[in-house]
Amino acid sequence: MKRVCYIFPVLMLAGGLAWSLRTRADEKPDGAALFRSKCSMCHGVDGKGFAAIKTPDFTDPKVQAAITDKEMTAIIKEGKKGTVMAPFADKLKDDEIEALVKFIRSLNSKKNEKEK
Ligand code: HEC
Repeated sequence: MKRVCYIFPVLMLAGGLAWSLRTRADEKPDGAALFRSKCSMCHGVDGKGFAAIKTPDFTDPKVQAAITDKEMTAIIKEGKKGTVMAPFADKLKDDEIEALVKFIRSLNSKKNEKEK
């Protein structure tokens, strides 16, 4: 009879563990969704930026060419001094930042023209 009392919590624990493992494995950071929720208020949903706060137009090939992935990653992590661009190192995981850089690159209007 006593055993019944143990089975329930054990099942709950196992179920919870299985659930958290599964959701974690499924989780791939979605750069577009992250950009929309964390960056679009300053960079625009379309990434074109706002003149009033001097955010760059990420669809502009010249803006894209002026910055490397490494610099982009560093700015997202550490912010940009003298601007309102905030550091996100403690708010985003590395793979989320990587997904964001990929997404920003995908905004380049020249991307699908004759680039290798
Ligand atoms: C509070 C407003 C704000 C938020 C939120 C914000 N940014 Fe920025 N971001 C800026 C400003 C302002 C600049 C600097 C523009 C300048 O150089 O004068 C900037 C610059 C950048 C740059 C460098 C662009 C370049 O060409 O130098 C990158 C990359 C960037 N932001 C990515 C992001 C990402 C990714 C997020 C979301 C995780 C984000 N930003 C959230 C305001 C913001």
